[in-house]
Amino acid sequence: LAGVAIAYSAGINVVSGADGTKGVSLVTDPKSGDPAVIIRLANDTVVAYDAVCTHQGCTVGYVQGSGVLQCPCHGATFDLASGEPLDGPAVDPVPVHPVRARDGWIEVAAPETP
Ligand code: FES
Repeated sequence: LAGVAIAYSAGINVVSGADGTKGVSLVTDPKSGDPAVIIRLANDTVVAYDAVCTHQGCTVGYVQGSGVLQCPCHGATFDLASGEPLDGPAVDPVPVHPVRARDGWIEVAAPETP
């Protein structure tokens, strides 16, 4: 896990729902101050992204049932599993935060791309 690992204390509680449903946690990256989103996918994979839209910087969020991250400003959508843009106007993916599980915590590192 490259970079500085950041343990989000809120992360594990939100993403470890016992019912197996998807969980989403919106947190603040303590290093950059950017909003970040931690998502537990249906297959129990946990992913994390900068929640800053790559179009003009609005905060993206997960809309329940939509299966995508969505930007409220101009409607860009991003793939939950990869962060890649699915629909414009954004053309770049949201930066990925590497994630690992350790000692019962979800550790989220600084994004791979600044
Ligand atoms: Fe997100 Fe424009 S700022 S779509």
